[in-house]
Amino acid sequence: MKKYLDLESVLTKKDLSPFISTEHLKVHQYTVLTAAVTEIEKHLEEDEDLQKEDLETAQETAGFHDLELRHAIGALFNHVFFFGILNSSSAIEQREPAGRLAELINKHFTDYNGLKESFKKVVNARVLPGWVWLGLTKDKQLVITQTNNEDNTLMHGIALVQCLPIIGLDLWEHSYFTQYEGDKEDYVNRFWDFIDWGKVSANFESHNEPTYKLAPLLD
Ligand SMILES: [Fe+2]
Repeated sequence: MKKYLDLESVLTKKDLSPFISTEHLKVHQYTVLTAAVTEIEKHLEEDEDLQKEDLETAQETAGFHDLELRHAIGALFNHVFFFGILNSSSAIEQREPAGRLAELINKHFTDYNGLKESFKKVVNARVLPGWVWLGLTKDKQLVITQTNNEDNTLMHGIALVQCLPIIGLDLWEHSYFTQYEGDKEDYVNRFWDFIDWGKVSANFESHNEPTYKLAPLLD
């Protein structure tokens, strides 16, 4: 857990504009991540289990904690994951799904455009703060699902559909309301151009092994 509490190692140094403006990046990163780290640190000293867990496995048991700590554990994971799959547009080498991930996307959604359309429908229908995910279920199927607040698909007993996240999109107001004037469709349309599919494919290959385990968020 410790390495994730060092903000310097989890803050992205990437330029994600125009998808996320510099100003809004600061909100996600400094406001949300600083609050999450402060809350987790408050509990860390007296919670030996939390000390031993890494951020990935702490998601599974987040539902056993009080709401503030569950929120902080989720927010930290979600944002580190989100910024991990994004990259500056000029730095992205692979702009579309490839390999086994592309095959599975084609099987479930016809093609990459089909995935985008299905994902957009869920984003547009969402009214509460939360996240929309593309995930891999234990029986190796792709699914689009959503979670409330800072919950995620790894949380046992909380996520409606338990799966390993492949991609995730932040749908809190701080992510789109001001910058996109509330236009979620514009926000999600721009999202795809900033996904580093090389990184996403590497995550997928790691998830897809027989162990069915989430790839570590930080190298
Ligand atoms: Fe956020």
